[in-house]
Amino acid sequence: MERLKIAVQKSGRLSENSKKLLEECGIKFSNGISVLKTTANNFPVEVLFLRDDDIPQYVEQQVADIGILGENMVYEKAKDVEVLEKLGFASCRLSLAIPKEDTYTGPAYFRNKKVATSYPRILGEYFLRNDISAEIEEISGSVEIAPGIGLAAGICDIVSSGSTLLTNGLKEVETILKSQAVIISSRNMSDDKKEILTRLLFRIRAVKNANENKYILLNAPESAVTEICRILPGMKSPTIVPLVEKGWCSLHSVVKEDEFWERIQQLKDAGAEGILVIPIEKMIL
Ligand code: PRP
Ligand code: ZN
Repeated sequence: MERLKIAVQKSGRLSENSKKLLEECGIKFSNGISVLKTTANNFPVEVLFLRDDDIPQYVEQQVADIGILGENMVYEKAKDVEVLEKLGFASCRLSLAIPKEDTYTGPAYFRNKKVATSYPRILGEYFLRNDISAEIEEISGSVEIAPGIGLAAGICDIVSSGSTLLTNGLKEVETILKSQAVIISSRNMSDDKKEILTRLLFRIRAVKNANENKYILLNAPESAVTEICRILPGMKSPTIVPLVEKGWCSLHSVVKEDEFWERIQQLKDAGAEGILVIPIEKMIL
């Protein structure tokens, strides 16, 4: 039996969530702290723990069949791989930043200046689009210290919480790219591997849907049901169960995590009481 080889980041912003995703898909493997390659014992996959920077190349060369990494790295490396699915975690942006005391005058600020980055391709395209000639200094890590040590006037790097910029006395001035974790795959895969990938993607979507939704239960007077059903469409439509107390019922439905607070307010306004919100373990549409 063939095994699908999955590349995940060994350590860094994506690694914990990547491993968690596979675990939530029911795949059991050792965690990669000391080993660089491990075989799952209950699903036909092998997990390779690699530097995220190297994953696009390895997937192109079929050293790995699929990889979990940030879109930022996928676009920067521009290898011949296919982006299969956005995963909804590790959201960040690739931004330009300058010393916080400097006055920013728009992209022209960077004209004839030196900018340090690990993303020379994406940054080069940005400068080209904006008709700015600037010098790109490619460095592979600790980009944020470049202005402080006189290496560059500004930087272009990944910003997530923004705390790295803050502690290095920098301010974000332009966002060049928004990014999140994605799955990439090789363009050539055996039918056996494609079949494993289909099963894995089915599980990943169930986990992703579950994480993006909440199960909601509430009590409401029957007179409010029509209005509440309008607020809470649910997967098909809400389940309605009568309560012992006459004229009252309980409604069960699913609500999107990102619309959650807004919906709760609308439900209360419509007359809902005793609202319970419960995480969903898996959700198959
Ligand atoms: C990025 C970037 C910063 C940090 C920013 O590293 O280089 O160091 O995240 O995060 P913050 O805004 O929350 O402080 P990343 O893990 O993307 O890069 P690496 O793989 O090169 O370590
Ligand atoms: Zn990296």
